[in-house]
Amino acid sequence: MFEMTDRPLPADEAAAQLRGLLAGETDPLANAANFVAFLALQLVAINWVGLYRRVGDELVLGPFQGRPACVRIPVGKGVCGVAAARGETQRVADVDAFPGHIACDAASRAELVVPLFRDGRVVGVVDVDSPQPDRFSAADQALVEALVAAYLEVAAPL
Ligand code: SME
Repeated sequence: MFEMTDRPLPADEAAAQLRGLLAGETDPLANAANFVAFLALQLVAINWVGLYRRVGDELVLGPFQGRPACVRIPVGKGVCGVAAARGETQRVADVDAFPGHIACDAASRAELVVPLFRDGRVVGVVDVDSPQPDRFSAADQALVEALVAAYLEVAAPL
């Protein structure tokens, strides 16, 4: 769905660009929306990218790019819920082999979910889905984690 002809930027350059994009704005929703749009441009061969924010024991859908998605995910369920419950990135090569995976879009084959921490607590997750099995490498994980860190550093909480 999102294809770029240019090579994605190295993680440190991408993070610097993202800080520049968000630093002058204080509106949390505008910055979350631009963060997601920026992620979509940095990652080829994906069909969904977006934020879920934690509200009590649920993750609730936030800004995203892709098909309409599941709105509420219990913490602990699916790839997103496990990332939130454990506070650990989940890099899944084959979503069909992940117990409890929640299929929002049947086309998704691989998934990368990075938790968002503020003040030591998980306040949400970034979810990236791909129609390509085993799409996400350790380098992709490092890129998304670097962009998440830059977003959390400069943007106010959603
Ligand atoms: N597949 C995710 C649900 C979110 S959608 O893919 C956008 C999961 O198992 O947590």
